[in-house]
Amino acid sequence: MRSALRAAARGVRGANPVVGAAVLSASGEVLHVGHHRGAGTPHAEVDALRAAREAGTDLRDTTLVVTLEPCHHTGRTGPCSGAILEAGVPRVVYAVGDGTDTARGGAAALMERGVDVRAGLLAEDARDLNARWFRAQEQQRPFVTLKIAQSLDGRVAAADGTSRWITGEAARGEGHALRSRVDAILVGGGTLRSDDPSLTARDATGGPLTRQPLRAVMTTRPVPADARVRRGVVRAEEHDGRFVHLDTHDPHEALARLRGLGVSHVLVEGGPTVAAAFLSCDLVDELWLHQAPVLLGAGAPSVGDLGIGTITAASRWRGDPVGVPDDRAVAPVGEDLRWHLRPARGTPDADSLDAGASRPGAPATPQRHPASRTPAGPAPTPGSGPADARGTATNSPDDTSSAP
Ligand SMILES: NC(=O)c1ccc[n+]([C@@H]2O[C@H](COP(=O)([O-])OP(=O)(O)OC[C@H]3O[C@@H](n4cnc5c(N)ncnc54)[C@H](OP(=O)(O)O)[C@@H]3O)[C@@H](O)[C@H]2O)c1
Repeated sequence: MRSALRAAARGVRGANPVVGAAVLSASGEVLHVGHHRGAGTPHAEVDALRAAREAGTDLRDTTLVVTLEPCHHTGRTGPCSGAILEAGVPRVVYAVGDGTDTARGGAAALMERGVDVRAGLLAEDARDLNARWFRAQEQQRPFVTLKIAQSLDGRVAAADGTSRWITGEAARGEGHALRSRVDAILVGGGTLRSDDPSLTARDATGGPLTRQPLRAVMTTRPVPADARVRRGVVRAEEHDGRFVHLDTHDPHEALARLRGLGVSHVLVEGGPTVAAAFLSCDLVDELWLHQAPVLLGAGAPSVGDLGIGTITAASRWRGDPVGVPDDRAVAPVGEDLRWHLRPARGTPDADSLDAGASRPGAPATPQRHPASRTPAGPAPTPGSGPADARGTATNSPDDTSSAP
């Protein structure tokens, strides 16, 4: 299971949980590992079984170990339960149950067909690996990533509101890669008014990447008819229709609306007022922060008022090596520094989640009823482009490559 957990960490956070799998020999030797690479790509079990098939491994006396209960549904990929049965693997051990409406039932289906299925091995580790994804599922909302490009002194714009460019090309490239795999990008009315962003995902030459997110603006004021965000990557006079005006200041309401539109992963790109609103509601599951060796001295702070009056109430984060190059939560990207973070444990909410996980070291037990921790399934994911496209991005969402 530890091999499977390590493999899982090679995946990316977002619409789907990160999941890893390992094929063990009868003597317990790890023969093959696999992991899920993001929405629309093969699940971890299928990835590990593919490696076994390619190596010509006889699977008749093997065990498949997986960090999450095998799914039992056909989404963009087929059911893992079916793939396991087809492969003829006689034993399956998984860490935590998948209670999402769409995926549940894999363990039961396998047992019905005579597979020896056990659950609960290293359940706490597996639960922790995807703690915020489980939380988003429980709250029936999209997974939320916040991205900030800031100066050394924590500012996202100069005193006159300009923000192009604080960070360098490499960091902007990571930003566009992120854009190309989320379902929606969201900014506030302030960013709309000061930057007129297009919120598209583009490559190093400024060309559009295959997969474009839905563009969302949270503002109680009208969005001008000629705003770039309305257009998308089409000719100047055309609109691609992938724009939504969220006429609210309430992040919960904005997320509910987006979920209704089939969004499972939202990238919040600011500005500071909207970032603070999502952070204050504990609705940020993942934080990408690029810090440039630039001092501004004045200008908008990266995050607005969080209502924190004393140091003990600080919003604490921890390094997250999942889904970043070289597994490094803090790493240089060109001249800049990238922090990849997740909310620190210890908050009351995190504690209550942890309390729901299995005891550490609990022995794997025969599984009778698939666990049902996550009452609602993810909404269908719009778009169908590659999840791993890479390109360039900008510091602020005002990223029209032809813009000055
Ligand atoms: N470097 C970066 O990463 C980055 C990224 C984005 C923006 N920026 C910079 O940030 C600056 C803009 O900052 P900003 O704080 O004005 O931008 P913002 O957070 O994008 O927008 C704030 C506006 O959004 C609306 N809004 C939505 N939810 C709200 C809530 N819960 N509470 C209050 N208002 C809410 C309000 O507009 P209505 O009154 O219209 O409802 C408010 O004025 C610009 O200079 C931009 O360049 C930098």
